[in-house]
Amino acid sequence: MEVVIVPDAMAGGELIAEALAALLRRKPDALLGVATGSTPLPIYQALAAQVRAGSVDAARARVCQLDEYVGLPAGHPESYRSVVLREVVEPLGLGADSFMGPDGAAEDVQAACEAYDRALREAGGVDLQLLGIGTDGHIGFNEPCSSLASRTRIKTLTQQTRKDNARFFDSLDEVPHHVITQGIGTILEARHLVLLATGAGKADAVARAVEGPLTALVPASALQLHPHATVVVDEAAASRLKLADYFRATYAAKPHWQGL
Ligand code: F6R
Repeated sequence: MEVVIVPDAMAGGELIAEALAALLRRKPDALLGVATGSTPLPIYQALAAQVRAGSVDAARARVCQLDEYVGLPAGHPESYRSVVLREVVEPLGLGADSFMGPDGAAEDVQAACEAYDRALREAGGVDLQLLGIGTDGHIGFNEPCSSLASRTRIKTLTQQTRKDNARFFDSLDEVPHHVITQGIGTILEARHLVLLATGAGKADAVARAVEGPLTALVPASALQLHPHATVVVDEAAASRLKLADYFRATYAAKPHWQGL
């Protein structure tokens, strides 16, 4: 995988937004896989600024969710559907029908998971999937020991992830225990994976994912299996990478027109 070290979260957001803009110029109806949480917000803000400035037209872009809480009432502001509508769909000026996600309120959750996997394939597959990383190494909500071949399914959040996400809710008790998440096998079907990690709290997970062995214990290490995976990290999140200097030199020597 390619590792790109940037000075800070803002620079990471701008770099990835430029990759998304380049994709949309090549393929205006590209299917963009979006992650939620705090990390990707600078990406969405930078892309929305490009749309406002007229340097990219996102009108035909399609967006799909990576995961969704199970059991939140419809329209809950922290459901990932609400977050994606608020942070991505509205700022980019996309229509509500350009957006798909798993149904976290479905009575038959298993059927909803299978339907979502099918819908992603029928939509032609994800062109670029954005990812964050959990402090425990999860991608999407594939917690440690998720099958590397897993498909979209229901998962139980670890207590660590519930604590990490409690900042979005009034209390830890309100954080759902269950989620629907694209499986690791599903994620690996996207044509390009772009993971952004920022802050010292992610340094250990990043080092284990990038330089450690491929292991279900660190779900993000599955990116090692993908032919086009890019990991963008700020200096703090890169602080435990043994090969940081090599990654810097490699990226510095890369022709600028290649993009991410
Ligand atoms: C959420 C998701 C998660 C987050 C991860 C990091 O859609 O895919 O894997 O990316 O939990 O969250 P933040 O960015 O809030 O640290």
